[in-house]
Amino acid sequence: MASHTIKGLSMKPILGDFGAEVLGVDWSQVPLPEDLITTLIRIQDKYAVLIFRDTGLNNERHVAFSAQLGRLEVNPVWGGSERVGTPYLFDVSNIESDGSLVKKDTRRWHHALGNALWHTDSSFNQHRSKYSLLLAHAVPGCGQGTTEFADTRRAWSDIPDSEKPKLRALVVEHELWHSRKLASPNEYEELTSEERNAKPPSYHKLVQQGPSGEETFFLAAHAKALFDDDGKRLADTQKIIWDLIAHCTQVKYTFTAEWKAVGTLMWWDNRQSMHRASPYTEKMRARDLRRSTVIDDGPLAFGMPESYIEKLQV
Ligand SMILES: [Fe+2]
Repeated sequence: MASHTIKGLSMKPILGDFGAEVLGVDWSQVPLPEDLITTLIRIQDKYAVLIFRDTGLNNERHVAFSAQLGRLEVNPVWGGSERVGTPYLFDVSNIESDGSLVKKDTRRWHHALGNALWHTDSSFNQHRSKYSLLLAHAVPGCGQGTTEFADTRRAWSDIPDSEKPKLRALVVEHELWHSRKLASPNEYEELTSEERNAKPPSYHKLVQQGPSGEETFFLAAHAKALFDDDGKRLADTQKIIWDLIAHCTQVKYTFTAEWKAVGTLMWWDNRQSMHRASPYTEKMRARDLRRSTVIDDGPLAFGMPESYIEKLQV
C-alpha cells in the first residue's frame, strides 16, 4: 500500500492495513497535544502496530507519552525495573543491573525464553492491558534485534463462516506460568510461592471485537485451556490452541520489524495482534528494550465475569 498523510503525519503501511511506520511526530513536545493523541489512536486502531524511528525519547518522556494513552501497568518485583529506574517500565533487555549480559540458565534467562513464543502481553491478567510501547535504548544489529507481529484480525476474517459460531462461544484460560513452562519445562516445573500467588490465571473470550470494530482472535502462548459456554473444558485443548496460533501466524498475516537504531519506538495493540521476540542466545549482544504497558479501559477489559469463572469445571 502506498504511503499517505493524515493531519501532517506520514504513514508507510507494512502489510496492507497491518503495521505502519509513522513519520512527523515531534517527540520533543511530549506531552503531545490532545488532538495529535486522538489522531495517533485513530491510526493505531487501524494498523494495530505503529513504528516510530529516531524518537529521541528517554524514560521520562516515554512514560509521559504512554500515560497520555491510559493508566500504566506497574512492573512486578521480579521484572528488573531497578535497572531502568521506574516501575512504569518493564525491563525486557538482556542486561543485568551491573551491566553484564543475562547469564545462561538463570531464572531471568528462562523467563525470557517464553517471550520468543507468539503471545499478547498481559493476557494473563483478568484486567488485561491494551497497548505495549517498547523503546530501544541499545540494539545489537545483525538481525538479533527483531520483533515479529501477527494480524489476528485478518486471521479471524479468513476462518470459514461455518466455523465461526462455535469459536465465538469459547473462553480461553491464560496463565503466565503456562508459557514459561512451554519454553522452559524443567526450570518452571516448580514455581516459587511468590510467582504462583502473583499471577493466577485469567479468563477471556477467544473471539472479541477489537478497537477497529473488527472481530479478532485474542490468543497467546499463555493460553492454557479452552472452555465452552457452560464452563466445560474442551478435550484436546492445547492442540486446538496451537492449531489456531499456527493459523494466525502464517506468513501472509505476519511481518518482521527490525529495531535498527536507538530511539525506535514500537507501539502495538495487544487486543488485535500477537508478537514474539527474537530469542536469547549465547551469542547475543546487548539489547536494551524497555516497555510501558497501558491498561485496557474498553468494554472487554475485565474478561469473563465472576459468575462464569465460578462455574468452570477445571
Ligand atoms: Fe511481549
